[in-house]
Amino acid sequence: MGRTSKDKRDVYYRLAKENGWRARSAFKLLQLDEEFQLFQGVTRAVDLCAAPGSWSQVLSQKIGGQGSGHVVAVDLQAMAPLPGVLQIQGDITQLSTAQEIIRHFEGCPADLVVCDGAPDGSCCSSGSSWKRNKRLIYVACHQVIVTGLHDVDEYMQAQLLLAALNIATHVLKPGGCFVAKIFRGRDVTLIYSQLRVFFSSVLCAKPRSSRNSSIEAFAVCRGYDPPEGFLPDLTKPLLDHSYDPDFNQLDGPTRIIVPFVTCGDLSSYDSDRSYPLDLEDGSEYKYTPPTQPPISPPYQEACTLKKKGRLAKEIRPQDCPLSTVDTLPQPLAAPPCHTLLASEVEDNEMNCSP
Ligand SMILES: C[S@@+](CC[C@H](N)C(=O)[O-])C[C@H]1O[C@@H](n2cnc3c(N)ncnc32)[C@H](O)[C@@H]1O
Repeated sequence: MGRTSKDKRDVYYRLAKENGWRARSAFKLLQLDEEFQLFQGVTRAVDLCAAPGSWSQVLSQKIGGQGSGHVVAVDLQAMAPLPGVLQIQGDITQLSTAQEIIRHFEGCPADLVVCDGAPDGSCCSSGSSWKRNKRLIYVACHQVIVTGLHDVDEYMQAQLLLAALNIATHVLKPGGCFVAKIFRGRDVTLIYSQLRVFFSSVLCAKPRSSRNSSIEAFAVCRGYDPPEGFLPDLTKPLLDHSYDPDFNQLDGPTRIIVPFVTCGDLSSYDSDRSYPLDLEDGSEYKYTPPTQPPISPPYQEACTLKKKGRLAKEIRPQDCPLSTVDTLPQPLAAPPCHTLLASEVEDNEMNCSP
C-alpha cells in the first residue's frame, strides 16, 4: 500500500521523489528540453515562480558547473537553498522584483527565461491564497470555499505570463528563449499574438507528464527579436484592464494559430493514469519522503488545523466576522459553509504542481 494517496495516484509525483526532484514539474521541463534542446549553449537562466524548486534543480544540473549566480530563481514563497541558484523572494508582477532580477544580471543578458507560475501561491497580497489543484480553492477568513472560477484562473495565469514576458524583455539576449506555462483558455490567441511580437517562433507544447485533463501547456518562444524601437518598460507589467475585448476576435492574417507539439516519450507513463506501486522492474514499493517540502506554504494553516483535528469541523458563516463575509465576491461568499477535506490538504502538502 502507498503511504499517501498521491503515491498511489500519481506516478510522476512518486518518480520525482524517487529521483530527488522537489516536484513532479521537473519532468515537464526535462521533456520540453528533450523536444526543443532548451539548454543548449545556455549559461544564464532565470526561473520565475520557482518554488519549491524542481525547475531550478534541473537548470542548475543542466547548465551547472559554471559557478554560482548563473541561475536566478524568483518566487513569492521562500524556497530551500540550491547550489548555484541565486534566490529572490518576491512577486514577479511587482516592479521592485523585476528590478532586482535585472540588477543581479549586471547588464549580462540571460539565454533562457522560464516561468512555471500558477495562481496557486499567494497571488493576492491580502493573505488569501489561490490553489489550483482539482478545483480552485479560495481561502478567506479561515473559511475555505470551493468555486469553479475557471475564467479567473485563466486571467491570473495570463497576468503571470505577461509579467514574466515583461521581465524577459529586460533580461533576454537577442535570439534568447522564453518558456512559460499557459492555460489554453478562451483568450489564448491574444497571448500567442503578443508573444509573436517578440519572438520569431512561438509553439504550444504539452509534455507527457502534464495531465491531458488539464488545460495547462507551455508556450515555447524562441528567437527573441523585439520590434525595432521597442523600449522595455517595467511600469506596466500587467494586462491593461481597459483592453478592448474585441481585439481578441482576430481573424484573417492577424489570427495566430501556433503549432501544438506534444513532447516526452509518448509511450512513457501517462500522467492521467494510476499505476501499480510496484513498477515494472518487479521491485517492491518503498515509501520515499518528499525531497524538499515547501517552506511555509500558503496552505500551512490548514495543515496545522488538520493536525489539531479541527479541520473536519464545519465553519459556519456565523463563525466568521460579518464584515469579512460582506467583502467577499458573491460567488465566493455564497456557499454557507465548507469543510476542507483532509485529502485536499494531503494533496497540497507536498507538491504544488498540477
Ligand atoms: C507550480 S508552482 C512552480 C513549481 C516550480 N516550477 C517547481 O518546479 O518546483 C507555481 C509557483 O508560482 C508561484 N507564484 C504564483 N504567483 C507568483 C507571483 N506573482 N510572483 C512570484 N511567484 C508566484 C507560487 O508561489 C508557486 O510557488
